[in-house]
Parts: sequence; structure tokens; C-alpha cells
Amino acid sequence: MAMATDRKALLGIDVGTSGVKAVVIDREGRTLGQATVGYEVSQPEPLWAEQNPEDWWEAACAAIRLALARSDRRGEDIAGVGLTGQMHSLVLLDEAGHVIRPAILWSDQRTEEECAEIHERVGFERTIEWVANPALTNFTATKLLWVKKHEPEHYARIRRALLPKDFIRYRLTGELATDVSDASGTLWFDVKRRAWSEPMLDALGVPRDWLPKVYESPEVSGRVSEWAAARTGLLPGTPVAAGAGDQAAGAVGNGIVRKGVVSSTIGTSGVVFAHADEIVRDEKGRLHTFCHAVPGKWHVMAVTQSAGGSLQWFRNQFADAERAVAAQTGRDVYDLLSDEARRVAAGSEGLVFLPYLMGERTPHLDPQAKGVFFGITPRHTRAHFVRAILEGVAFSLRDGLALMRDLRLTVEEIRVSGGGAKSEVWREIQAGVFGQPVAVIEANEGPAFGAAILASVAAGFFDDVVTAVDAWVRVESITHPVANDAAAYERGYSLYRALYPAVRDLYRANP
Ligand code: XUL
Repeated sequence: MAMATDRKALLGIDVGTSGVKAVVIDREGRTLGQATVGYEVSQPEPLWAEQNPEDWWEAACAAIRLALARSDRRGEDIAGVGLTGQMHSLVLLDEAGHVIRPAILWSDQRTEEECAEIHERVGFERTIEWVANPALTNFTATKLLWVKKHEPEHYARIRRALLPKDFIRYRLTGELATDVSDASGTLWFDVKRRAWSEPMLDALGVPRDWLPKVYESPEVSGRVSEWAAARTGLLPGTPVAAGAGDQAAGAVGNGIVRKGVVSSTIGTSGVVFAHADEIVRDEKGRLHTFCHAVPGKWHVMAVTQSAGGSLQWFRNQFADAERAVAAQTGRDVYDLLSDEARRVAAGSEGLVFLPYLMGERTPHLDPQAKGVFFGITPRHTRAHFVRAILEGVAFSLRDGLALMRDLRLTVEEIRVSGGGAKSEVWREIQAGVFGQPVAVIEANEGPAFGAAILASVAAGFFDDVVTAVDAWVRVESITHPVANDAAAYERGYSLYRALYPAVRDLYRANP
């Protein structure tokens, strides 16, 4: 067998909410080929969101094989594998390693009572002291408490609780492991000490041996097994880096590894992400404070629950015309919607959208929040609604940037990524709403690229994550704010800020 460092390429795997993406990267950090294999989110109740982890594994095997074939590479060319994925979602395994029930996803909002229960048992301030974050419906610990209360027959069989990418690691290597960044989103993790929080596990009655071993992100966590090699086309023994949650991995891929460089990523959710050399905590818990994928560093992040998700909802419900055109011309539906948004002036002629379709995290921490269109007049066309969605999502991300500045984090450069960065008009809207240029980096493979960077360190190509980022992450283009649009965005943002407090109580009256 060739030594790992003789092999030429790396593989990043992202176990996302809409599919698994596998990307093969060469030694210069360039994409050789990629493949995405999709699946659906099941919503058995409104605001619930579940997926079968076995579907992730099937999709991962298919995506790895396809990505290798498209890159014209074989398993023996891969020096290391890096894993990333949707954060927080709860995977439960029994004694034999079988999945007990569908994974309860990060976006699922069923656990408001369990959050209150944790704050009652532990105290809000003590929760932030122990695990750096408050109990939010998204976080894994709340989902396990729900299963305990509502599905005792399932609860009784639990031997392991894992996160999505760590389930794929288990299938790939047989190892039960996670990394510090993903562990940070469970609420069971002492983010300051970078270890499981014994007091929190005790308070919530979670057996320590249900949780996997924790590594720093670029460390080797295991090696591809014979069994997994036969299913994926990888070589047995290939090292698998611990990897990172999708936000931390995406940030590594965007070069967010130093103070002052911040990212704004629009995927299903939207995230503003800042690197921190020291742990920074928001005592009100409006921002998440997690370990970074750079060993010994932290990050702070603001999350919009439904960013790309808001546009996806509009596409699914109201874009039949664009879908028909897309089917005829082969153009992407989202490109057609972006073209329509471009025909409307900044500010959407007073139409304002609150993107709270799945509740909201930053800054409201309100699972009851819901979407709003405000200010509709007969002048507004469907195109105005599309633009208002793009602007409303950017306003929500600006809320996150504002909170970071309050915590004295500097925002010198903003890098945009995710589906939202592919649209020129959405980039322009972000630059306009943030009042600052936004940059796009060359490799636009998202978290999977960051996972491949972590794999490059695990495989010994680089000494550390920052050196790898400096070698591989290159800014491709910069979009500047349009000066004439500034006043319209300021008006829109102040209306946006005023709307949530005006309707907050109505969400509760009309759950
Ligand atoms: C981060 C978060 C989402 C998921 C989606 O806190 O909940 O970004 O990781 O993939």
C-alpha cells in the first residue's frame, strides 16, 4: 500500500440537510470533481423535521463513488477523508449499532418545553456558564429529553447518541468519535474546556458512555474499514479526519481563521460566522459560542433559521411559471427568480419580509416566530415578493453582524458563500444591506471543501489548518454596495427591526 503522503488527492464529505456532497480536491486545493446525492426532510407534524440516517449512508456511498469517477480518481489516490455535516441533529443507536428512530433534525422545533425544563433545572445563567450557550430547540440535548419523555420504549434501547457526520464516520471506520466544533452544538459540551460537560450530563441524566470520543478537527479519528471500502470505493486504512460541523468547516473553506474576517453563508439556514482567539460569550445567549475547527480557537455565530429555506419555500409554492421555463430552457429556477428580483428597485417599494418561517434564533431566540410580508399594495408584483425575501434574509444577517460588533468583534472583511452567494443580485443586496463590500472565494464547494482542508492536515500535507487555508483559499471577486441604494436599505432595515416586536405577542396568541 502507498504511504498516505504519496497519494495525491483528498476527499471532503458533507452530510447536509438536502443531500450528501462529496468533493475531491487536488494537492493545490483545486476541485477535481464533486457529486451530490439528495434526500428529503420528512415533516410528520408542522415544525417537526426528521431524516433516516441510513439514507445519509446510502447517499454518502453513492456520492463518494460518483465524485471519484467524475474526478477520474480511484480510492488509492485519496490521502485522507474529511467529514462535515448538518449540526445538532440527534442520531440514536442501540447496542448493535442500529438506528433506533429517525434522526430529529437541527431545524425541528418540537422541544420548546424541554428548553424551559433545562433552564429551570440548571438555570439560564448557569447553562451559559457550563456550555457557553442557552438551551435552544435546535440543540441536541433538548431532542434527547423529548425522546425520553415521549418515546420511553425507544429511550430504553439507547446506547449511543451521535451527530450526523459522526454516524457516517461510524459506518466508514467503526469508530465512535466527534470533533470539538460539532460537539459544541449539543449543549452537553464545555466549550471553554473543549470536553464533555460533566455537570451538564449529570443534570440531564445523560450517561457519559452514550457520547463519543472528542478530537480537535484536523486530528485523525479513525481509518476506512474493509467493510466500508467495499461500499465506497475508498482504500481500507485511509485516514479520516475528525472534521467539523458544517458551519465551522464552511468557515475554514472560506478562510475564516483569523480575527476580522467574517463570513455570511446562505444555505437552508443563514449564518454570520466570526473567528475568536479567546472564548466570547453573549450573556443573553443570542449568538452561539462554539469551538472552532482551528485547534485551540473559538467562533461566534449568528443563525437565521430559514434563509435559503425562505426562497426555497417560495420556489416550491409560487414559482410554477419559472419551473416550467426552467424545464424548457435548462436554466436554474433560482437564476430565474434572481433575474426577477433584479428588475425591482432596492427596498422592494416598501414590501418587507421577516424570514421566520421556522421560528428564529438570532437575535430573537423565538421558536414561535413565523414569516411575515408587510406593506403589500396593488403596486407589488410577484417579483417584489422575491426581492423582499432576498432583502429580508440579508436584514436578518445584518442583525447578527450588529450583535457581533456589540461584543467588540471586528468585521473588517465579509466573505459570502452558500447558494445565496451564487446569485449576483443576492450578493449585491448583502453588500448593500451590510454597507460593506462582500468577497467570494474561488472554491465554492462549501463545507465539503473545508472538510477536505481538515483532511489535508490529517494526511500530513500541511502542519496546521491556518497554513493549509493560506495555501488553498483564494478570493475570486468582490461585490461593492451600490451607493444609490443605501437609503432604501436603511429605511427597509429600520422597518424590519420594528416589525418583530410589533407582532411577537400575536405569534403566541396564534401558535
Ligand atoms: C448551525 C445550524 C445549521 C445546520 C445546517 O447551528 O443549525 O447551519 O448545521 O446544516
